[in-house]
Amino acid sequence: MTAHSPIAPAAGATFPDAARTAFAAAYPDQSTKLNHGLVGHGLLTLDALATLAERMPATSVEYNLGKLPLGVTAEDTPSNGLTLGETIRTIETNGSWAVLKNVERDPAYAALLDDALAELEPIVAGKTGPMLHREAFIFLSSPGSVTPFHMDPEHNILLQIMGVKTMTVFPARDEHLVPAQKSEDFHGGGHRNLIWQDGFKARGKAVRLEPGDAIHVPVKAPHFVENGPTVSVSLSVTWRSERSVAEGELHSFNALLRKRRLPVGKVSAQPETQGIRRLVYRIMRKLGA
Ligand SMILES: [Fe+2]
Repeated sequence: MTAHSPIAPAAGATFPDAARTAFAAAYPDQSTKLNHGLVGHGLLTLDALATLAERMPATSVEYNLGKLPLGVTAEDTPSNGLTLGETIRTIETNGSWAVLKNVERDPAYAALLDDALAELEPIVAGKTGPMLHREAFIFLSSPGSVTPFHMDPEHNILLQIMGVKTMTVFPARDEHLVPAQKSEDFHGGGHRNLIWQDGFKARGKAVRLEPGDAIHVPVKAPHFVENGPTVSVSLSVTWRSERSVAEGELHSFNALLRKRRLPVGKVSAQPETQGIRRLVYRIMRKLGA
């Protein structure tokens, strides 16, 4: 046993019955608020997370100043001038934001992720097939910090562990918010941040998250996050599915078509059924397109 061994929760304790019922009604297309049982978990204290962060590869960690405008670009994001360990241990006062990516590479955090997702697997399997490519991320943010308007490629549940934040979530597949070409760039390796316009705000739903609350964020549903007056720690558990993979392939296919000035195709709400387009895309990639 090390000082950072988990205080193991009872089996089935991550998502209680009410959370699983709400998730089943919303998955995969709707955002919904859930609750969870991981508050106070020994792997999720600031000290445990600083120690974890220090043994993670530098490429798996991103951190910067936290008070950013909603529409900041990747190039304009300022550094905070501290080491990572310092950033986490003094996060109450240093005005920063940090993410620890792929914490499942550490066996203890892998077990935490697997236990959480196992509780949802029967629901997910019935709707989008097997849970693929499971990953976990931990977000730490100073009082008042903002995570700018962006989208992510995974099925995601964010579990609030410490502090309060408000996440404003917007519908996925709204081309006013995310133009088709932005989706195509994103799947080709473009940045996740999106262009913000003040007129968008009314299309989103602001959800306040306290410790013990969680939220389901559908694949590529745009969102931004505003931290409350204390330090916030959140755990994000994510997976991919045949649907999310197909969606990425079809946008990448459109990018190839657009580059050749050919007409692009619509990506449907069930992209996993668009087999012919996916096949053509895979053949084009094999041919080196
Ligand atoms: Fe996100």
